[in-house]
Amino acid sequence: MNRTYIKDLAAKAGETVKIAGWVDVRRDHGKLIFIDLRDMSGKVQMVALPNHEEAHAITGTLRSEWVIDVKGIVNKRPEKMVNDKEPNGAIEVEITEVKILNEAVTPVFEINDDGREVNEETRLTNRYLDLRRSRMQKNLRMRHKVVRFFRNYLSDRDFAEIETPILTKSTPEGARDFIVPSRLYNGKFYALPQSPQQYKQLLMAGGMERYFQIAKCLRDEDTRGDRQPEFTQLDLEMSFAEQKDVMNIIEEMLIETVKVLYPQKKIQQIPFPILTHKEAMEKYNSDKPDLREDKNNPDLLAFCWVVDFPFFEKTDKGGWTFTHNPFSSPKTEHMEMLMNKESIGEILTTQYDIALNGYEAGGGSIRNHKSEALEKVFEIMGFEKDKIWQDFGHMLKAFSSGTPPHGGIALGLDRLIMILQNEPNIREVIAFPKTGDARDPMMDSPSEISKEQLVELGIQIKNPLK
Ligand code: AMO
Repeated sequence: MNRTYIKDLAAKAGETVKIAGWVDVRRDHGKLIFIDLRDMSGKVQMVALPNHEEAHAITGTLRSEWVIDVKGIVNKRPEKMVNDKEPNGAIEVEITEVKILNEAVTPVFEINDDGREVNEETRLTNRYLDLRRSRMQKNLRMRHKVVRFFRNYLSDRDFAEIETPILTKSTPEGARDFIVPSRLYNGKFYALPQSPQQYKQLLMAGGMERYFQIAKCLRDEDTRGDRQPEFTQLDLEMSFAEQKDVMNIIEEMLIETVKVLYPQKKIQQIPFPILTHKEAMEKYNSDKPDLREDKNNPDLLAFCWVVDFPFFEKTDKGGWTFTHNPFSSPKTEHMEMLMNKESIGEILTTQYDIALNGYEAGGGSIRNHKSEALEKVFEIMGFEKDKIWQDFGHMLKAFSSGTPPHGGIALGLDRLIMILQNEPNIREVIAFPKTGDARDPMMDSPSEISKEQLVELGIQIKNPLK
């Protein structure tokens, strides 16, 4: 007999079915033993009656979170027992056979509530239990649906999904790199990518024209509610594109996503309002303003674009650094200022950020596709020619080999899902997030490695943690 998912039981009244899942709750009234059974699709109430003697005896031994396999008859509940609030509230499964597939120690916390009261360290240490709660199941399944929607949307518009390397090179991109020591080249290191920025531009040099990726990004920075050392972007890049082309495709995709997957939500303003950085700062004192007219309404989405950011800002030491992305192009009318390295503080970049309910949900830009222009950016930042070539020679060479004009964007997938799911932080929408202090308490990572591994890597630990 094939297994039936619990969500499909309501249509099977009168039939004998086989179902499987976890014991959610057991209520033992002696003669009648009630079990709420849970699988990935839902919950159903089952009852063991004394006339099915063996099944009744086994059911009596069951405890929360045991995994069982059940044969039973789907019965309609008597009128006065019907629960309108539950999808399976009009039926009940009469257990005729039950098999224990695995027992479980008593769970360290309740699974049939939303888990918000449980200490996070405990939740993350026991994440496999925490993921069983229906809130987490919903969050991860909706995340999957959004990702699938993006994939289809972009694939239908000639974008190709291409993977880029995780072992790459350390270059100054804004945040601190995670580095990986090389065994074959002791003393040399790979870096984990802060984003696929350079590779996606090199794909444009490679004639791919339209790329996207659900990309893992790694940044060794302090963790916050909306920030993880390891997070996911919907990353894309397109050739022969102007600012409005990239903004349009993202805006239309987001509107369509909300319409199809979150029909209960309302987008406050379409097309999304566009503010200059100056306006945003003057009016809202934020470059990711929360434009919601009613901040108490959980189903209101206020997207807006922020454009015309200054390209450079002063460093503490009095030099210049980029505000967003060194690979961005200045606005066309400011290209001359960049090339002449004059009025540096007034140069505006083609950067566009997308804000949602007060969070920075994404950002991108049109890039410099000429090597002279990219070189100027690094010169302004005070890099010597040698250093520019050492760090970015591959980009400069590619740009001198017929790279088309191009631009792109990356959406912070975790943040977007967090807001869509009305969750207070991104850890609630990531299967296995790190704690606030960047640990995985379930795996106990980061962890020490063996002496042999250290020797192979040519590494000596100077100040081992006690
Ligand atoms: P940026 O650094 O702005 O741009 O990143 C894009 C978006 O990613 C999200 N984000 C994060 N989410 C969770 N944890 C983090 N630590 C974190 N850091 C960033 C934000 C942000 O808007 N390569 C460029 C994109 C481009 O120009 O195409 C980039 O990475 O939502």
